[in-house]
Amino acid sequence: MPTAGVSAPSGFEAVGSVAVRTSATTQHTTTDHQTTDGQHVNATAGNEGSREHTPLAAYDEVPEGHFYDPDAEYEPDPEYAATLAPDAARQRRERIGPTGRPLPYFPIPGPLTDHGPAKIIAMCNQKGGVGKTTSTINLGAALAEYGRRVLLVDFDPQGALSVGLGVNPMELDLTVYNLLMERGMAADEVLLKTAVPNMDLLPSNIDLSAAEVQLVSEVARESTLQRALKPLMQDYDYIVIDCQPSLGLLTVNALTAAHKVIVPLECEFFALRGVALLTETIEKVQERLNPDLELDGILATMYDSRTVHSREVLARVVEAFDENVYHTVIGRTVRFPETTVAGEPITTYASNSVGAAAYRQLAREVLARCHAE
Ligand SMILES: Nc1ncnc2c1ncn2[C@@H]1O[C@H](COP(=O)(O)OP(=O)(O)OP(=O)(O)O)[C@@H](O)[C@H]1O
Ligand SMILES: [Mg+2]
Repeated sequence: MPTAGVSAPSGFEAVGSVAVRTSATTQHTTTDHQTTDGQHVNATAGNEGSREHTPLAAYDEVPEGHFYDPDAEYEPDPEYAATLAPDAARQRRERIGPTGRPLPYFPIPGPLTDHGPAKIIAMCNQKGGVGKTTSTINLGAALAEYGRRVLLVDFDPQGALSVGLGVNPMELDLTVYNLLMERGMAADEVLLKTAVPNMDLLPSNIDLSAAEVQLVSEVARESTLQRALKPLMQDYDYIVIDCQPSLGLLTVNALTAAHKVIVPLECEFFALRGVALLTETIEKVQERLNPDLELDGILATMYDSRTVHSREVLARVVEAFDENVYHTVIGRTVRFPETTVAGEPITTYASNSVGAAAYRQLAREVLARCHAE
């Protein structure tokens, strides 16, 4: 790996100021989650604004004109990998994806004539801020765009998925908590339609945190969500569960209900920490509760090809998980935090953006994996 003068660990210790280039301006954003990552640079030569945030030579040189602009105009899919790569010309020629493997073609799925039974996907990683909620919303919206009926389950008492779809969790009378804990509660009473056609939501709020405690004394406590979702299986093609950042009883419920797990991993230094514990938990659920459960894939998120750091982390993830890593990689762009404020998926908020294209490609990759079975 070329390091271009990077003094390794110290390069990783820069703190969380992120320079993100938008088409018109340069913005600096700091989020709670970006504690170890300061690796972002505006690759435009002579841009004073970002220079002050890159005191270390933590970046390799990007040839002029070859930088990843997350907000560039949407390019057709075969080109998408190239937008994530500094050597765009070579990658376009060889169709090498950002994971370093040849990028397969994921066909646009045909329309469905009938729906269900649903495949249930748990979006799971006990590490916080890795893109679980963002991926749930946008994968769901992209699947719905392709004509699949989608139900999103907010299974995090923080209610971030609900907020991200424009719902105020504080104002909800009924949530997924009621569906779990009250016998006889019909899912229809809790379900909300979203602004995206074909996509519904089981919302949540802080009430759900009580379920974790109350479920402990229930019979078959790990399969409570599975039982609650059963009557909905015929109505949907995909049910995507947004897990909370823990491996507690709620997450075990999601894994027990699911057929597939998607593990989003942020492309930063500590990405692989804790993954062993997560895979162990998945294996235990497989053995004891849900033999059908499978890891569908590891999704690299918040990738920025301009940084050696991001590329090294992605290479290490591919080394560790090989074919389990999705070919689709989600780039880092300020458009995602913006969509949370807007309360809608990126596929409608910035339909032509590279971020929207990425989640559409992920939807096609997920569909291709399901059909390959
Ligand atoms: N590809 C991306 N580029 C830039 N920012 C992103 C990207 N994906 C997610 N984010 C932002 O990172 C933050 C964390 O993302 P998100 O809420 O999806 O993670 P999470 O894993 O669900 O977090 P939690 O563990 O707290 O539930 C959010 O502010 C989100 O807008
Ligand atoms: Mg979340």
